[in-house]
Amino acid sequence: MKQLMAANWKMYKTWNQARDTASELAQNIRGQLPENREVLIFPPFTALKGVAEALQNEPGMAAGAQNMYPAAEGAFTGEISPDMLLDVGASWVLTGHSERRHVLGEDNAFVGRKTAFALNNNLNVILCIGELIEERRADRVEEVLSEQLEAGLAEIPVGLTSDSLVIAYEPVWAIGTGEVAGPDEIATTHTFVRKKIEELLPSIASEISILYGGSVKPDNISAIMTLDNVDGVLVGGASLTAESFSKIVLA
Ligand code: G3P
Repeated sequence: MKQLMAANWKMYKTWNQARDTASELAQNIRGQLPENREVLIFPPFTALKGVAEALQNEPGMAAGAQNMYPAAEGAFTGEISPDMLLDVGASWVLTGHSERRHVLGEDNAFVGRKTAFALNNNLNVILCIGELIEERRADRVEEVLSEQLEAGLAEIPVGLTSDSLVIAYEPVWAIGTGEVAGPDEIATTHTFVRKKIEELLPSIASEISILYGGSVKPDNISAIMTLDNVDGVLVGGASLTAESFSKIVLA
């Protein structure tokens, strides 16, 4: 199973800062990445070209975008198309991130449209899912994740291969809070996600990487990576410095 260690830099870093951090990270980990492990960096749009250039000759490293709009071009002020992302060297995109869902108001159907459009237009996708704390307290985790997966994967292309699609489980209450989900919560939920994708995508589900995200740090990464059905991580705060993210990447 391919392992992915992904950095989501959210709305942090200028072009110069992003390129410098990407270069420093590449230098820190060069020649040390296990063979089945890849590193992805998701900087802000304005820094994508600089990061992609910093990573272009680094084996196992690639750049991706935090968002895109599901249309080839048109009158969509402020939006970015898959071709524009490919043009600056991005090969991945995040869809369904909890901040897009809960701060920017994206619903399950729109996440599904974006996921399918990205995959149909040569981008690889990390589809993010996760429940709110009140949904966990109400014992609705499986229901919420099922809805997010069903809608998120509803329109994906026929013949999709497992290399192009990754699922990231990020419990919303663990994002940026320092409150990492417990080992049982992570393992149980990831096993549920695997079961659900087996139902939705039977021919490729066993090869799809499932990442955990939510307060991942250098001191908890080793324990998280040993859990069942955890094939990597999506990291926010602790990915912002090369020093901290290299420790996560090489754990
Ligand atoms: O996409 C990564 C994420 O939302 C987790 O953020 O800061 O809790 O690692 P953080």
